[in-house]
Amino acid sequence: MSKVIIAKDLYAGYNNEMIIENGSFSVNSGDFVFLTGPSGSGKTTIIKHLYGELKAKRGYLNIGGFDMRKISRSKLTYLRRYIGIVFQDYKLIKEWNIEKNVKLPLMIAGVSEDVQQKKVLKLLSKVKLAHKADKFPYELSGGEQQRAAVIRAIINEPVLILADEPTGNLDDYSAKLVMDLFRFANELGITILIATHHLPQTFEVPYRHLHIENKKLYEVS
Ligand SMILES: Nc1ncnc2c1ncn2[C@@H]1O[C@H](COP(=O)(O)OP(=O)(O)OP(=O)(O)O)[C@@H](O)[C@H]1O
Ligand SMILES: [Mg+2]
Repeated sequence: MSKVIIAKDLYAGYNNEMIIENGSFSVNSGDFVFLTGPSGSGKTTIIKHLYGELKAKRGYLNIGGFDMRKISRSKLTYLRRYIGIVFQDYKLIKEWNIEKNVKLPLMIAGVSEDVQQKKVLKLLSKVKLAHKADKFPYELSGGEQQRAAVIRAIINEPVLILADEPTGNLDDYSAKLVMDLFRFANELGITILIATHHLPQTFEVPYRHLHIENKKLYEVS
């Protein structure tokens, strides 16, 4: 089975302060992974390393075949085309309507207009947002914006999706739609890694569990 993420003896932190010490784990292609840990334990820090926004202090981190401590700017830009990212605060483009926001990765990839249209409508309908396609982010609730942000992350079927507390601000209804969308993406073979305070109470598919505590990052299951 091919590895999407390999971390060996990873040290991550800011300036001289280590947040994670000696972290080793790997994620296989197609895995569904939850990353848990108390507030301040380093979940967001790890996601930023996986996305290449921060560089590890020591150890080895490989994402999709690239050594993240040595990767060039241009290769990182290339790699990120295969990574979908979802933040807690959505980060939609406020001057664009929802349809254009979720289309963005397809526009960048040069997908034809009619294929873009079909994909967008299908996914917006899936999360009950088709009727909001021409609205702007400020006209949507937080839960609706997050559903749009998750569609934007999966629409071009990346290899890996990284999501940082994607349901942290949502009510149960929106949280369920968002998690359903991640499961749908996973069924397409997309590897999913979600940082969260809590594991879901019920979850219909098998998943793996990584945990961070006291600077240790380890695999629970
Ligand atoms: N830019 C920064 N410079 C210095 N320290 C930072 C920086 N960003 C985060 N930290 C520190 O790193 C530690 C881990 O933060 P991080 O945001 O990764 O935690 P988290 O597990 O995502 O927490 P939460 O559940 O609250 O989102 C915290 O102690 C935080 O204060
Ligand atoms: Mg965080």
